[in-house]
This record gives sequence, structure tokens and C-alpha cells, in this order.
Amino acid sequence: MANIIVVGAQWGDEGKGKVVDCLTEKANVVARYQGGHNAGHTVVIGNEQFILHLIPSGILHKEKLCVMGNGLVIFPEALIEEIEELRKRKVEVGDNLKVSKNAHMIMPYHAIMDGIKESKKGDKKIGTTGRGIGPAYADKIARSGIRISDLYWPELFKEKITNNLVEINFLLKNLYNEEPLDAVAIYDTYMRYAQALAQHVDDTDVIIDNAIKAGKQILFEGAQGTMLDIDHGTYPYVTSSSACAGGAMTGLGVGPKTIDEVLGVVKAYTTRVGGGPFPTELENNVGELLREKGGEYGATTGRARRCGWLDLVVLRHAVRVNGLTGLIITKLDILDGFDKIDVCVSYKYKGKILNDFPKELPVLEACEPLYEQFDGWTESSSNVQSFAKLPKNARAYLKMIEEKLGVPIVIISTGKTRDDIIYLKDFQTTR
Ligand code: IMO
Ligand code: MG
Repeated sequence: MANIIVVGAQWGDEGKGKVVDCLTEKANVVARYQGGHNAGHTVVIGNEQFILHLIPSGILHKEKLCVMGNGLVIFPEALIEEIEELRKRKVEVGDNLKVSKNAHMIMPYHAIMDGIKESKKGDKKIGTTGRGIGPAYADKIARSGIRISDLYWPELFKEKITNNLVEINFLLKNLYNEEPLDAVAIYDTYMRYAQALAQHVDDTDVIIDNAIKAGKQILFEGAQGTMLDIDHGTYPYVTSSSACAGGAMTGLGVGPKTIDEVLGVVKAYTTRVGGGPFPTELENNVGELLREKGGEYGATTGRARRCGWLDLVVLRHAVRVNGLTGLIITKLDILDGFDKIDVCVSYKYKGKILNDFPKELPVLEACEPLYEQFDGWTESSSNVQSFAKLPKNARAYLKMIEEKLGVPIVIISTGKTRDDIIYLKDFQTTR
């Protein structure tokens, strides 16, 4: 297999977990490059369902190396819990999981700050997962973050927490009316994490470089999606990391020339969880139907996802900012049985047609989606394993997406399990 980046092309929850699980079969190394335990990647194997938040979905395959890169923010407790849960379910997690020394840690004050900041925002709430993601990345950029490697330099680690708590406790006490935190208690807890994680902590940039030199194939697993990217998403209604393809370079320390393919995962319709603009949102019975049929409830927070039709303006943006070389369409079967299917082809703003996703929030909020309507299909596309066997109108729908975006569809997912997949491209070819 080539070296492939798998990136969400919408607002997350496109089905990246399932796709990565399937592609892992053809890869040697699966590496995540950003985000934290805000992600929720659902993988179904037989009758069993796994929801992964931090560990790459590749872990469910034996003998594949899984890497968590420097671009992640890791809450050690969540990682340890995830490792233990997997082990309980007989999934091996040992030397096959490597965690970057340079990844930043989510500290207890990050989640507290996340909650407080959200509660002050009123109707401008981002609707974060409350996991402390934003504050952890803020500390990283402000150069006051604490990295995984700091766990193994106890004196330095203690000094860093103590220093950080001066400001945090001042804010907690004087601005937010909350109890201050105790450096020693945090130190003791994190020293226990240090022990539990020691086996996995490593120089992941070197590991990946050696793998590439040895001709191994790397699958880069994105979390969240293009429209949640800190630079290219609907700022400030985004997550705090580089979810786009570019994040894979900085988030793991690899050069752009190592990448052969950038595949965008596209749900056959659109969903979004949390606040922020969503031009094709359907706040009616059609949206409700998509939610119920698609099981559109958050894998991390359980929140009902907002649902709407496919938005080609969003996807055009995703093709551009990620340099997508292929599309992966998921949840096609959820559209089975719709009489008519609308697809947004452009936006209208003050009488003008916009084909490119607008950058300014006030413009975006005032945009009206312009739809083209397509005939639906009554036959089932669920569990179909070849393109030819898909309903005729489903094939036409897919062809339309390909043509309008100018990017080929390379994989179609037609259900939850590993077998419900159609490959239109052979990824076996090596470099
Ligand atoms: P996966 O990897 C969908 C959303 C949150 C919120 C915003 C910021 O499963 O696709 P954060 O806690 O990251 O600061 O929240 O981002 N969000 C996601 N939405 N899928 C995800 O991950 C998400 N991770 C964060 O709902 O709107
Ligand atoms: Mg998810």
C-alpha cells in the first residue's frame, strides 16, 4: 500500500474509524497526528463494537504498529483507561503502541478551564467535548505546556506544574470563584501515569522514519475533520488542532514527499455536533430521519448530531485545503429509501452566487444553500460489496459527486462491518 493520509472532509464523524480499520489490513503502521480524546472512532468487528478515542483504529489488527504523534494532546488517564479496556477485550496493547515523547499532556486544569470558558459564552458556545482540548493546545502554543517526556524528569515536571498553577489558581480563585488546585496531588497522580505509560513512550519520528526507509506503508489517521480544523474550519467553532492533511506532517514529523495519497472521508450527507454555522442543516423531519437512520449520536459525548444534506461547497473546500487525491464515501445506505435527495452545489449571499466556502463568519451565517435535486432509490445499498450491484440511482449520485468535485471515489462504505466495503482502487501497490 502507498503512504496514505485519511482525513475527515466535513465536521468529523464521517466514519474515519471504520475506514482506517479496513485500510489497516494493507498498511504496516497506523499513525494519528492530532486531537485528543475528543475523537470518537467507532469500529464494528463481527458482533463487537469498539469506540476508540485516542489510540489509532489500527490497534484492532494484530501485528500492526500504532503510533500517537507529537501533534496529539493526551490525557494520560484516558489513554490508560483505553489501553485497559482493550486488553480486557483481548486486544493486544504492548510494544505495538508507541506514544511520542513530544506529545503534550492534558492536565486537570485544562478540562476545568474548558468547562468554565464554555459556560461564559452563552449562545456563542462552541459546544466543546469538555475534555480540555482547547486549553491544552493553548498552553502548547504559549510554551507553557507539559509534554509526555516531562513525566520522566520528576523535578522538572513538579516545577512546571507549580509554575503553571500560580496563574491558573489565581484565575480560579479570583475570576471564576472556584477552588484552587494542589500541585502535589497532581504530581502524585501523574507519576502513577508515568509508570503505566513508560513502555509506550518513544521517539516516534525516528520510528516512522525507519519504517518508511524500510519500505513499510504508513496510514495517517486524522481525527475530527476539515471544517473543525483550527485554520481551515469554521473558526471559532472548531477544535484546536490541525485536522487537515497538513497536520500529519507537523503532527508526526514527516516530510510531505512521503505521502502518496490524501483520502477525504465524506459521509453521503452532512452532520455536525456542537455549535457553529451549518448551511445545509435540516431542522425538520428529514433531518430527524437522517439522525435516526444514521444513528447520529456522538460516540464521545452521546449528543444528538445536527443533520443535513451533502454540501459540495464544503467538499470543494476540503478538496482544496487537503489536496485530496481520492474520496471515500460512507453511510451511503442511510440514503436508501429517500424519494428525492438534495445536494447543495453553491451558496447565495446578498444575491451573489458563491462556489467557494466563505471565510467570514457573518457571510457564512447569511448564506443560503442552493440545491440541485436528484432522484433517490428504493432498493437497498446496505452491505452491497460491488459497485455494479449498487442501486442505479445510488451509482448516479456517486458519479455526480465525483464529477462535481473532480476527484475520484476510491472506496465506498455500505454498512458498519469490515465486509461492507467497495474498493474502486487497489491500494496494494507499493512505492
Ligand atoms: P471525530 O474524530 C465531531 C467538535 C465538538 C465541538 C468542537 C470543539 O470523532 O470525528 P473540542 O472538544 O475539540 O474543543 O470541541 O469540535 N468535535 C468533534 N465533532 N467529531 C469529532 O471527532 C469531534 N471532536 C471535536 O463537538 O463542536
Ligand atoms: Mg466520531
